[in-house]
Amino acid sequence: MTSVVETLSAPTEPACVPATLRIGQLGLGNVGSALARLTASAGERLHPHGIAPVTTVALVRSLSRPRPAAAWVGRVTDDPEVFFAQPLDLVVEVIGGVEPAHSFVRRALDRGIPVVTANKSLVAAHGETLSALARRRGTALRYEASCIAGVPFLGTFERRPLASRVHGLTAILNGTSNAILSAVAAGASFQEALDDAQRRGLAEPDPSADVSGRDAAEKLTLLIRRFGQRLIDVDRLRTEGITALDSIDVRAARALGGALKPVAHASWNTGALQAFVGPAFLSDAHPLARVSGVTNGIVLDAPLGRQCYTGPGAGPDVTAVTLLDDLCELAGERHVRTPAPIEAAPASPRWTLETPWFIRLSGNPPALDTSELLGTYRIWCRQLLPVEGRLYALTFPATPDRIKAGIDAVHAATGSWPLALPALPAEDDAC
Ligand SMILES: NC(=O)c1ccc[n+]([C@@H]2O[C@H](COP(=O)([O-])OP(=O)(O)OC[C@H]3O[C@@H](n4cnc5c(N)ncnc54)[C@H](OP(=O)(O)O)[C@@H]3O)[C@@H](O)[C@H]2O)c1
Repeated sequence: MTSVVETLSAPTEPACVPATLRIGQLGLGNVGSALARLTASAGERLHPHGIAPVTTVALVRSLSRPRPAAAWVGRVTDDPEVFFAQPLDLVVEVIGGVEPAHSFVRRALDRGIPVVTANKSLVAAHGETLSALARRRGTALRYEASCIAGVPFLGTFERRPLASRVHGLTAILNGTSNAILSAVAAGASFQEALDDAQRRGLAEPDPSADVSGRDAAEKLTLLIRRFGQRLIDVDRLRTEGITALDSIDVRAARALGGALKPVAHASWNTGALQAFVGPAFLSDAHPLARVSGVTNGIVLDAPLGRQCYTGPGAGPDVTAVTLLDDLCELAGERHVRTPAPIEAAPASPRWTLETPWFIRLSGNPPALDTSELLGTYRIWCRQLLPVEGRLYALTFPATPDRIKAGIDAVHAATGSWPLALPALPAEDDAC
């Protein structure tokens, strides 16, 4: 039994009573289930930070399907009115798509409830107006998990206006496309690689947004807003998918000293916004050339030098960690901080920059004649390589217009079906 003396002489640390954080979760699918499980299990690590998160309610589309994650949630409902009738400290949106996610997020922000989301489609389409609404209501919208979910960099740069002065970026933003091209490089066919990605849960049942480049284009839209202070319409971004590539292209790229990667690129150092999404040739010296599998990466071109970040881009568990960290960060702030407005202006992205090109010509046209014909369009070949019945070329820099005119001429002269991909320069300071 503890004596009175012992009690009196014991250190008198005040007991820390963590504040309950009532979370309303919009969506309880792949990411939502991982988040509900993490929220229920992360208590021990979060209590020392003064936070005890509880998933009070989750909104779903249909109550009829079996839902093991319901065990970690106070109440699951398919009725938005029931959801919004609960007392909530924070809302997290993991429904996906634009509507009804947009209306629900508006409704929460309008009431002054902070919102965290993993939804790049929503942020690409309405990020600016939702952030403005959050500011007006003295609350916050966080979307760290919507782009390279496993690398928390957006929030860091938001708090560091000097470090975030960059004039361009190159990134691998879609893990599924990167995993497919990496598997093709390792010997699989495109279809085998896609089937495998779906079997492993990396690709959606409908992988069209991944392989068409749409997913990466939406993420690039929000990166251009964050770092380039420009608002663009995702539909006006030059976007190509990886479906036109095959294993011979990937082998040819390797023989030419590089790799084909699903790239998102933007630069604004000349004033005009230059941007594209699509497969590109990266020489082995490029910091993203060896970013393989589902890993994502981003290279920021800053006045004081390049910065590179790589890490997991998707996956329910990775995404859940970033969402819960965002939630805890908001809860830990005494008053929810309204970030300074980004002050982005509308812009039209173009792709007119001179770059080297990786060109594929089917039907194995004669190398010398092809090189001469391209030369009449001022396209100079640095390397020419016949591979398995095709001719591949790496060129010196040329504008997209000149490349199009040149390969159209080769097509007219030889019947060959050409493909041209930008070959992005490596810079010397690889990360
Ligand atoms: N999967 C990843 O690795 C990953 C990574 C980063 C970001 N994200 C983003 O996270 C978000 C969620 O992705 P996910 O893979 O978890 O999607 P998901 O598995 O399809 O889950 C969506 C959830 O939203 C619910 N829902 C759909 N429509 C609804 C509606 N009209 N009303 C109410 N609830 C509705 C669904 O209800 P039911 O359960 O009843 O169908 C489901 O619970 C997306 O924005 C995605 O881009 C995903």
